[in-house]
Amino acid sequence: MKAIVFRDSSTPLEHTDVELAAPKAGEVRVKIAAAGVCHSDLHVKRDEWEAPAPMVMGHEGSGIVTELGEGVTSLAIGDHVVLSWVPPCGECRYCRSGHEARCQKVATVVAPKGVLFDGTSRLSRDGESLHHYLGVSSFAEEVVVPASGAIKVRDDAPLDVIAVVGCAVATGVGAVLNTAAVEPGATVAVIGCGGVGLNVVQGAKLAGAERIIAIDVLPEKTAMAVQFGATDQIDASKGDPVEALFELVPDGVDYAFDAIGRTVTTEQSIRMLGLGGAAVIVGLPPTGAKASFEPLVLAEADQRILGSNYGSVRPSIDIPALVDRYMDGQLKLDPLISGRRPLAEAAEAFDDLEHGGALRTLLIP
Ligand SMILES: NC(=O)c1ccc[n+]([C@@H]2O[C@H](COP(=O)([O-])OP(=O)(O)OC[C@H]3O[C@@H](n4cnc5c(N)ncnc54)[C@H](O)[C@@H]3O)[C@@H](O)[C@H]2O)c1
Ligand SMILES: [Zn+2]
Ligand SMILES: [Zn+2]
Repeated sequence: MKAIVFRDSSTPLEHTDVELAAPKAGEVRVKIAAAGVCHSDLHVKRDEWEAPAPMVMGHEGSGIVTELGEGVTSLAIGDHVVLSWVPPCGECRYCRSGHEARCQKVATVVAPKGVLFDGTSRLSRDGESLHHYLGVSSFAEEVVVPASGAIKVRDDAPLDVIAVVGCAVATGVGAVLNTAAVEPGATVAVIGCGGVGLNVVQGAKLAGAERIIAIDVLPEKTAMAVQFGATDQIDASKGDPVEALFELVPDGVDYAFDAIGRTVTTEQSIRMLGLGGAAVIVGLPPTGAKASFEPLVLAEADQRILGSNYGSVRPSIDIPALVDRYMDGQLKLDPLISGRRPLAEAAEAFDDLEHGGALRTLLIP
């Protein structure tokens, strides 16, 4: 099959032939319908993280189950699935207590080592083993994933569009509803209105937030956020967005989401908080980045800083529910998709994200 292979930031991405072995026990093969390009893929492509390479890229996608490994009873051939980049092991203490986004086996084996649960890869090229990315590797015609990472969804939902539920929507909406548990009437700031940030905005609307202040350096992104439920916009390219926020909300906000993950935006999110406020770190910086805050202010104002991995979702429960909310008209997905390209144009899709102001480009194999 064809797939996009990443080696390091100085080697161009390759659209090349790759061998995909049959699913082993507990795994399934999925034919990819669409794969979304997320900023996390861009972090990998720029060597900002210690990602296992060479790898087949991609962690957002949807498709149809075509083959079942031994013992898989939760899925059937022909099922429509959204891929989850946390395939819960179901056995560690975090999975057993319902905190599947923290799955220890994913955090210590699947993600850092670029393999499936048995410690091996199904991907190779000319005898060289290739790594999986986050147990998904969706920039390909097909994938083999743990059955717990292929989430069955209703088959009347448009299969290509719902690819974005697998990362952008689960991460953004989940950060609001699960990690922060934003209450009705809350005031919310969202720094960064890309694929993830717009989903924080629409999550905040679902939660019943009263003010949703969208902040970005590109005015077209905050204008888009208004379509997703934002009540106010701040252009961060014009001066300090923290000062601009306090002009709109003199008491500061109850929740400030950093949907970018730069040191400057993380520090801004903490400085935007009012009494009892929580900063929620969703955007991810390069490995080793540091941010600072004033502990005296945090303690006296009874504030919190929360990290949010994969929107603290329970994939098998939250992903089908998010697809239902899209089909019910409560969540917008179509405007998140700023373009579609054939898989062979992955490099151009990265350019769209880096320089073209894209939200999500879908790669179609
Ligand atoms: N925590 C998680 O589980 C998780 C999951 C997925 C993605 N992420 C991370 O979330 C972040 C966002 O991903 P995305 O796909 O939405 O990215 P994106 O590139 O689509 O969006 C980033 C947005 O930030 C804006 N921006 C950049 N610098 C800014 C600044 N200084 N002030 C205000 N706005 C600024 C850009 O104009 C853009 O609209 C990435 O770091 C990604 O790795 C985290
Ligand atoms: Zn992502
Ligand atoms: Zn687990």
